[in-house]
Amino acid sequence: MYRTNTCGELRLSDAGKKVTLAGWVQRIRKMGSLNFVDLRDRYGITQLVADDKADPDVLQVLNSLGREFVIQAEGEVCERQSKNPKMPTGDIEIKLDRINILNKAATPPFTIEDQSDGGEDLRAKYRYLDLRRGPLQRALALRHKMAIETRKYLDSQDFMEIETPFLIKSTPEGARDFVVPSRMNPGEFYALPQSPQTFKQLLMVAGYDRYCQIVRCFRDEDLRADRQPEFTQIDCEMSFVEREDVLQMFEGLLKHLFKSVLGKEFTEPFERITYDEAMEYFGSDKPDLRFGMQMHDITSVVKGHGFSVFDSAEYIGAIAVPGCAGYSRKQTDELTDWVKRPQIGAKGLVFIKLGDEVKSSVDKFYTPEQIQQIATACDAQKGDLILILCGAKHKTQVALGTLRLEMGSRLGLRKGNDFKPLWVTDFPLLEWDDETQRFYAMHHPFTSPKPEDIDKFFSSDNALLAQVKANAYDIVLNGNEIGGGSIRIHDRNVQERMFEILGFTHEQAEYRFGFLMNAFKFGAPPHGGLAFGFDRLCALFGGQETIRDYIAFPKNNMGRDVMAEAPSVIDDAQLDELFLRSTFGKEENK
Ligand code: AMO
Repeated sequence: MYRTNTCGELRLSDAGKKVTLAGWVQRIRKMGSLNFVDLRDRYGITQLVADDKADPDVLQVLNSLGREFVIQAEGEVCERQSKNPKMPTGDIEIKLDRINILNKAATPPFTIEDQSDGGEDLRAKYRYLDLRRGPLQRALALRHKMAIETRKYLDSQDFMEIETPFLIKSTPEGARDFVVPSRMNPGEFYALPQSPQTFKQLLMVAGYDRYCQIVRCFRDEDLRADRQPEFTQIDCEMSFVEREDVLQMFEGLLKHLFKSVLGKEFTEPFERITYDEAMEYFGSDKPDLRFGMQMHDITSVVKGHGFSVFDSAEYIGAIAVPGCAGYSRKQTDELTDWVKRPQIGAKGLVFIKLGDEVKSSVDKFYTPEQIQQIATACDAQKGDLILILCGAKHKTQVALGTLRLEMGSRLGLRKGNDFKPLWVTDFPLLEWDDETQRFYAMHHPFTSPKPEDIDKFFSSDNALLAQVKANAYDIVLNGNEIGGGSIRIHDRNVQERMFEILGFTHEQAEYRFGFLMNAFKFGAPPHGGLAFGFDRLCALFGGQETIRDYIAFPKNNMGRDVMAEAPSVIDDAQLDELFLRSTFGKEENK
């Protein structure tokens, strides 16, 4: 037997027991006549001790130990002289009778401590060493618990977990597909699924009325802190449901997770707002409700007073930042530069300081009474700093929303352990793209229009089509989209019209999605569903916004696995077998 106990397990009540532990050497210390080793495994750290009078074999092994050696240690559990209240095992130590090196270790390239000295790239290259560190172990343990509790809840609600294929037909819409060549079908390719969307709908046609799957999805898109090329969804679909049934079911799942994983009870229903309200008050379709500072449309209040910047703007919006009326010139200049950065794209920033004295950058154009009217329109209080942006409506709303988040962060109002979930509903069905001169589905092409908009949906007027709302919803947590879904189209005519609006010819739609449209001929039930981004959910539950630490082996932001060095070039024989030829870097491709 390699071990009788783990390194996180022994307490004072175990004193006197003979035990064997196995693990990695965290730290070696010598204090006077005493030799200490901290032994670590996934469960914790236990202190081993031997004095200079111990068995010479033990002392010899102790002298040859290095960090991260794998050892087996046998001895008696004893009460410690100087206890460590910070460690669960801090009351005891193991007095060594025997110690045995199971495997030596090269000196690790960074310290395996909660606060490591290794940079991100180095830790990514040695991910298996990084994974030995406490924060990553806790992150993966949280993820495991989240998966278990998700399955428990969904099972209790009669969901069946059904696996769907990874080698599927390429139907790019949204992100790019990752494609896989087929050796047995030369010249043809599979795609890896961006989500199991079509399969879960086919399962509804097949009568599996509550489907779920914790499933890997693949998207070849630009990466960010909350995006990986392969990520995991809690994917679900239900038949014979309306929007309300779906929202209730998955609000229930999230409440169950909060309670069982974090011990947080949400007794009230989650807040709900429409997409239009989200844009108007928060300048984002994923509002962070951990703090107020809502946006106000002050266009009608400030226009027409001779300030040409405002007079010529389509939209003028403001936020009142609490307690910042004392901002210095330097601070407002810095904020002005901040909003002018290309990522935000504002042309300038107007401010009003509601201090003992009211000061603004537009004093010339407005009387003190008019400034007061602006403050009232912003629900501002004495001590607030009012920040105003103007320009084209949507773009300015988004910029002001970003500024709102920035001010929330600067004021420390976005705390990782504060959770504010909400539903955003009634998204537009379609998004017009100027570049390609066509509509795109805002969610995906299987999302149904809201029943009251069906006439607009069948009209050929683009202005009316742009107004059609989708029966779609997102679940948002602390400014992050953690899930999205919709009631689906289950009528072949509506689905065909959708493809037509998206610019597919009948033949193209048939080629890409014929299997789904055909299935709808054979009795498709009304259905709808949702998918949570599991990695994002885990990261947020852990108080983080970067998902990488919640994935055992993530990619870097170039989509590379820097540990295994993937992707990599494959040899000509492999290419020949697949009837492929790489032209990258070759003359003909220059
Ligand atoms: P959607 O595309 O909105 O919907 O994806 C659902 C959720 O998955 C998460 N997510 C990601 N997480 C990490 N990395 C990524 N690259 C990434 N992309 C998306 C987000 C998102 O809310 N089939 C539909 C769902 C449905 O309609 O039922 C779908 O995939 O948290």
